Amino acid sequence: MGAFAYRYGVLHAESVSVNDIARAVGTPFYLYSTAALEAHYSAYAGAFAGQDAGVCYALKANSNLAVIRTFTRLGSGADVVSVGEMKRALAGGIPAERIVFSGVGKTREELREALEAKIHQINVESIPELEALSAVASSLGVVAPIAIRVNPDVDAKTHAKIATGKKENKFGIDYDQARDIYKLAASLPGIKPVSIAVHIGSQLTDLAPFRAAYERVAALLHQLRADGHDIQRLDLGGGLGITYKNEAPPDLADYAAMVRSITGNLGCRVTLEPGRSLVGNAGILVSRVIYVKQGLHRRFAIVDAAMNDLIRPSLYEAYHGIIPVAEPEAGAALEPFDVVGPVCESGDTFAVQRPLPPLADDDLVAFLSAGAYGAAMSSTYNTRPLIPEVLVNGDRFAVIRPRPTVEEMLAAERVPDWL
Ligand code: LLP
Repeated sequence: MGAFAYRYGVLHAESVSVNDIARAVGTPFYLYSTAALEAHYSAYAGAFAGQDAGVCYALKANSNLAVIRTFTRLGSGADVVSVGEMKRALAGGIPAERIVFSGVGKTREELREALEAKIHQINVESIPELEALSAVASSLGVVAPIAIRVNPDVDAKTHAKIATGKKENKFGIDYDQARDIYKLAASLPGIKPVSIAVHIGSQLTDLAPFRAAYERVAALLHQLRADGHDIQRLDLGGGLGITYKNEAPPDLADYAAMVRSITGNLGCRVTLEPGRSLVGNAGILVSRVIYVKQGLHRRFAIVDAAMNDLIRPSLYEAYHGIIPVAEPEAGAALEPFDVVGPVCESGDTFAVQRPLPPLADDDLVAFLSAGAYGAAMSSTYNTRPLIPEVLVNGDRFAVIRPRPTVEEMLAAERVPDWL
């Protein structure tokens, strides 16, 4: 659990009692640890020290401004997938020249704003996007440094919804078309191909698919150089998977050594775009048991967080550890609980028949490994306000996104005058 541990019988985030935060903020809420964010970033920086490599944090995993700012202070760049994220990255202090813009469907307006902001690189994923970018760049009188994202047709061996590198996936340009498309790119006004990008999926816990994809990228680099392109950079996509339950992701040192073995003598600057591995295990979701409902067939812990707050279990059958905030007695017997939220769908289930220490009404529980794709994917379904995000740093904590009131939510809507 790292930064989250029991002290004096209560779960703490660094030196702060989760009970104290719950009292101050109310439940449910997300809770992040600065020390963990910093440790995860430093692990990447350390593993790749000595290589010409840089980290562009994938904002989509957790785009809270305070989280971004934490990484900015460590020297991170950003991988963004919308102009909204680009503006967040800039607002979080990340310089434009460290921002990479990825995504399969960037609009012309987004491309224009990215060019006006003078970001480092745009990763192009289709011929029409390339042509649109050329037109927009020409109209602005600028040259867009680009990567073409290639689809290496490699099975990432992860959940189908987050695998992106097979030929049937919507992402990137088919590997066998890549040379033609670089040729086209080089011929278009306002475009300068400078990089190759690849990303085969998320939550990878094995190095082999990464290696296969990177080897294909290296082979393509040689071909492109032979074709006369001046490719100086490689963008290797998202980072390693993390431990949610008992996954054993590779060591960063092994990952870095593998990257070096493939790219070390290519004379390219390497960009890494980790998201989950920087923030996932730096965050928890704290929730209160509203009721324990003992039925004839199941025992339900009905908690005040729901699928709108953390959708990963509903969407990907994802596992998140669940622990009580009050440390259970040593040797407490475990009982199977279905841990569910209050939303009116059976899919609003966090865990089925999960062995847990005894839980009672009003107990606090923590969902672990919730720092990535938690708050960032939340919604207001059932008119449940977005829940607060809290950042701990040593013995301090701060609310980094307050909970809106329902009145504020309603005030954002408009009823037309014919109603
Ligand atoms: N770069 C690109 C182009 C990406 O599409 C992604 C993630 C990343 C980097 C960051 O990958 P990471 O280091 O986080 O694995 N919502 C899903 C995960 C979706 C990932 C999408 N792309 C989940 O909750 O598991």
